[in-house]
Amino acid sequence: MHESILAFRGFKYLKLSALMVAVTAIVYAVHQPTVGPPNGGTALGYALGTLGLGLIIWLAWFGVRKRRYGLGKMLLEDWLSAHVYLGLGLIVVATLHTGFQFGWNVHTLAYVLMILVIASGAFGVFAYLRYPRLMTENRRGATQRELLTQIAELDVKAREISAGLGDDIHGEVMRAQEKLALGGPARRQLSGRDPNCPATAALKRVGDLSLGLPVTDAEKGRALIALLARKVELVERVRRDLGFKAMMDVWLFVHVPLTFGLLASLTAHVVSVFFYW
Ligand code: HEM
Ligand code: HEM
Repeated sequence: MHESILAFRGFKYLKLSALMVAVTAIVYAVHQPTVGPPNGGTALGYALGTLGLGLIIWLAWFGVRKRRYGLGKMLLEDWLSAHVYLGLGLIVVATLHTGFQFGWNVHTLAYVLMILVIASGAFGVFAYLRYPRLMTENRRGATQRELLTQIAELDVKAREISAGLGDDIHGEVMRAQEKLALGGPARRQLSGRDPNCPATAALKRVGDLSLGLPVTDAEKGRALIALLARKVELVERVRRDLGFKAMMDVWLFVHVPLTFGLLASLTAHVVSVFFYW
């Protein structure tokens, strides 16, 4: 996704959503309920509830729509731009539907789920706008596969050099290579770093051990440390890359399942209000 999604067709969908919000707010302001305070049960309440439900079904339908191929790129961008702006406008429509009446009930549960779906969507837009640029900068023209290949090449060289520098140093290099894990648990991936990185630890320990090397091996020791330092730098870049990728994916784990929760609780809400009518 690109900034163009927000500015798509000269902000057409922002304008459409702003119009929807403005009309809704004006009607709410002038509407006088026949009995009681404004709430979901007035004529306007029903109208806004129906509009809100319609919007939610349409927004959820995007999950089906985006998986249909052969429909021209423009159409999908139209959908996404409209999805974002009408999804944000829904906050006003649904809130005015409730007449600001909230309680510990299934109606408010639906409302809270809706807010969480919208908030996660807003984070998604933020992530899609922010992280691709950071990823490009971080990779500096290389692909993730190329970075991994460079790390593997450094490993081969480090094994060769360290083999001539005694068991302690060689052992450190070998253990660090075996223990290195990229990826791992979700929380670690999202952070984009590993505080217990074996490559960083090996760099420090080999640095200390190399102080005890005979003068004749000092040159090799320095070459090995340079290799290990380069590897740490590459490993950190791969971790950051995985971290950015994870940030671009993580919000969908909220957005999509809670959409189903929202649809279920809304069904309960609508059925229950008609049941007690
Ligand atoms: C066809 C769609 C809808 C209909 C017919 C409908 C109907 C109603 C009715 C009759 C009430 C008043 C209930 C009462 O006073 O006891 C109400 C309240 C409410 N509705 Fe809806 N609604 C719809 C859609 C929605 C949507 C989309 C949301 C938000 C996600 C929502 C959230 C609420 C909330 C939070 C209340 C206030 C509950 C309270 O007083 O504690 N409704 N709705
Ligand atoms: C109650 C309101 C909303 C519902 C029910 C909803 C539902 C969905 C669904 C079902 C998808 C398809 C996800 C998939 O299958 O991969 C989706 C995608 C998306 N939604 Fe929402 N959404 C809502 C509001 C929003 C809002 C307000 C925003 C932004 C401010 C937003 C941003 C996005 C984005 C960026 C995608 C595209 C994900 C992709 O294609 O990678 N959504 N939404």
